[in-house]
Amino acid sequence: MSFALVAAGLLARADAAASPVLVPAPQEMKVSGGTFASKAKDVDRSLYAFRNDAGLPKEGYRLSVTAEGISVSAADDAGRFYAEQTLRQLSSMKNGGLSFPCVEISDSPAFVWRGALLDEGRHFFGKETVKSMIDLMAYHKMNVLHWHLTEDQGWRIDVPGMPELVKYGSWRRESPKHGARLKAFGKFRYEIEGNGQKYGPFYYTEADLREIVAYAAERHIRVVPEVDIPGHMRSAIAAYPHLTCFPENIKERCAHSSWGISTDVLCIGNDETVAFLEKVFDFICDVFPSEVIHIGGDECPRINWEKCPKCQARMKKEGFTKAGQLQGWITRRIADRLAKRGRRIMGWDEILADDAPKTAVGHSWRTVSGNGAGTTLVAGPEAARLGYDMVMPPHTETYYDYRQGLKEDPFQYPGGNIPLARAYAFDPCAGVVPEARRHVLGSQAQMWSEYIWNEYDLAWKMWPRACAMSEVLWTGSEKKDFDGFMKRMQTHRRRLIGMGVNCAPLQ
Ligand code: ACM
Ligand code: ZN
Repeated sequence: MSFALVAAGLLARADAAASPVLVPAPQEMKVSGGTFASKAKDVDRSLYAFRNDAGLPKEGYRLSVTAEGISVSAADDAGRFYAEQTLRQLSSMKNGGLSFPCVEISDSPAFVWRGALLDEGRHFFGKETVKSMIDLMAYHKMNVLHWHLTEDQGWRIDVPGMPELVKYGSWRRESPKHGARLKAFGKFRYEIEGNGQKYGPFYYTEADLREIVAYAAERHIRVVPEVDIPGHMRSAIAAYPHLTCFPENIKERCAHSSWGISTDVLCIGNDETVAFLEKVFDFICDVFPSEVIHIGGDECPRINWEKCPKCQARMKKEGFTKAGQLQGWITRRIADRLAKRGRRIMGWDEILADDAPKTAVGHSWRTVSGNGAGTTLVAGPEAARLGYDMVMPPHTETYYDYRQGLKEDPFQYPGGNIPLARAYAFDPCAGVVPEARRHVLGSQAQMWSEYIWNEYDLAWKMWPRACAMSEVLWTGSEKKDFDGFMKRMQTHRRRLIGMGVNCAPLQ
């Protein structure tokens, strides 16, 4: 969806003039009555007078609409861009041009990291869907696309010089049957009925990846790619079975057909594993300018490492007493490699338990149960207290692939329940001591895709909950107001539907 289309959908349907409806809500807005009528058909730079004001906060802006015209000031390009998003939401179509309510707005974000994760390992959505998602994120002033590109169930990056990765890793023999439930038996043993249909090959070429990075950058969105190591690597291991501890386990040279976690992970005792990862991450650095590169690190079974002679030899050489220390070892190797390219690693909170460098950005997805008073977020707050910069997407609050409490819902979910009110109530700083709050960069809407089959399913689960997330991250806890949000969402949801977004009902 292009911005022209975004605007066209908006203009046809918005009734913003009466009472300005902005999502996310700005920090300060005064409505002064009256309107400004322009002949312009779209919001672009010719619509307003611009002044650079270095005194304004990063990404912030001031916007003034009077009967005479529009003026914008900002310290940076991002602030100017966000002023334009606000103008898009303020606009309505009148007499063949655009009409804007007279307002004074002073605005800036509460958090620097306002993201969404897209898992393309389980299901592949393709460039057009990714671009639509980027457009919608930008429209809601979100600025990080966390692109989860590798999984046990699919490898989506064509790395030059390594054609085997997509030849073997970008398809699977079948997928779980739609509607089937994953059954877990003990640790890492799963069963789910298959659908008998080959899935893939699906992957992005280098040109595709660069196209998305550029498209996102034009919209002030940084793409943080994730190559999930050393577990969740079954698709890469299909390409290079010698990189796992027991290659004889790899009966099928394709990605994993079931959901759940494969116990066939990278062999950390094998020097070729290190060479392989360095090559992959070098390519990632070539294509993605993001300072932060995600190396996954979650849910890595150590069962094979405990038995593998090569892993045992590495442990002996390094003086390790627990197989888990091998994960810290490979994390530090890759962190060093990335540091040489001026990059920082990011990883799921598991990496913080294994002595990750303090320059790592932690990604807190796990929670522990409290003492009957509800769920307490522990892993992230503790890591922030220890001095790690943290992005906080606890699964109980931000995994929007979980159910959303709708009375009627045609789509399938793995479980959980995050109704809109719960999504809105989320505070990324919950449980964080005041002196550690500066380490909380923000959060993300998490679109894991085991049970997200296509773009309609994706949109339904993402919106309107990602509207709530945009307000959590832009407007911030002090200014949030759920009742006001729900009132504005009556109009805003109509806008989204008008733009062709399969936005779920407000309940
Ligand atoms: C995760 O949900 N395994 C990060
Ligand atoms: Zn091994």
